[in-house]
Amino acid sequence: MTEERRRIYLDNAATSYPKPDSVYEVVDDYQRNLGGAVGRGTTQTGSLIQKNVDRARNRFARLIDLPNPENVIFTSNGTDSLNLALHGFLKQNDHVVTTCWEHNSVLRPLQFLSQQKEVSTTFVDSDDVGGIDLDSLKKAMEPQPSLVCVTHASNVTGVIQPINEIVEIAHEAGAKVLLDAAQSIGHVPVSMKETGVDFLACPGHKGLLGPLGTGLLAIRPGLKEDLLSIRQGGTGTTSELETQPDTLPEKFESGNHNAPGLFGLEAALQWLEEKTLQEVQRHEAELTRQFIDGLQSLREIECYFPEESIKRVGVVSLNATRLEPQVLASLLDEHFGIETRAGLHCSPRAHAAIGTKERGGTVRFSFGPFTTPEEIDFTLEALGQITSAF
Ligand SMILES: Cc1ncc(COP(=O)(O)O)c(C=O)c1O
Repeated sequence: MTEERRRIYLDNAATSYPKPDSVYEVVDDYQRNLGGAVGRGTTQTGSLIQKNVDRARNRFARLIDLPNPENVIFTSNGTDSLNLALHGFLKQNDHVVTTCWEHNSVLRPLQFLSQQKEVSTTFVDSDDVGGIDLDSLKKAMEPQPSLVCVTHASNVTGVIQPINEIVEIAHEAGAKVLLDAAQSIGHVPVSMKETGVDFLACPGHKGLLGPLGTGLLAIRPGLKEDLLSIRQGGTGTTSELETQPDTLPEKFESGNHNAPGLFGLEAALQWLEEKTLQEVQRHEAELTRQFIDGLQSLREIECYFPEESIKRVGVVSLNATRLEPQVLASLLDEHFGIETRAGLHCSPRAHAAIGTKERGGTVRFSFGPFTTPEEIDFTLEALGQITSAF
């Protein structure tokens, strides 16, 4: 960008920006000074590259309380991770239970699998505080599902689902649990140990602060055999065999890695470890409260699930009574340099649940570790000016 213009980036739910400086530095250094492939050679540079990628795997495993880093699979984004889990796990005529809060990266693979493998899906509806109705979830366990797939935090409302209760209900019925942690990872603690989830899918480029083009799937030890590899190819190991290796992570990682992306992800995970997740969580919670409280004094703004008692991440959806979401977002961008996201956010059922699908969705504001309280004040001021002018 050449022109100097105030820019307030509030679309961290799509991808985080900015990243820590160290992320830019290592990506640049990798591209200029290293440049080799991961796991494909025995040179000194090759082993240095490999070590860095191993470090990224170790750091992520540590973040989610998984003692086996080899059970972390690198993918290219959250969608890729969810596709690997859904296509790899679900078999002919399986039953899946999922929720109204899911993203199209769950809805569309399930729709596809309903045609390809006659997989049936039951959707559990919202309760009145943006969660899911646990009684309906219990009822949905008949016929027995093989999988319960749930998004940890909604990318529309920011509300966090009661994952421990969901896992307990699913496991009691003999189902495995796939957690879509796209909006929670890097923002709040997500522990495989504490939640008991079987598969955890997430992007590396949102809350984890890595570059675009990175994603992860964590597989609970013992479940490797339950997941088919959906892509096969070179792994740099057992090259004499024409069959896909059965070892982890190679079983699910064919082809060259996104090495610059993984270098950036490693630096981002280190930043997060040093800053501490608790500190990021506290900062984002304060910003979110500041924003929601500030909205209360604005007329003609409807915010979805503003209650303080609701557990959430730094994602807030709202509408102005007399403006289409796209119009409000354009006014914020053009006149104030505030970048948000208007529309259905790839989550049509979530918008149906909050009653905003027909009007074209909401305007979503999403915060990150580098968002400042001053930017929140400025945004509230901008919303005030816009709503009193229209
Ligand atoms: C809840 C949720 N799941 C999955 C995804 C897909 O992630 P990615 O954009 O990395 O493919 C997103 C992205 O916005 C999301 O918000």
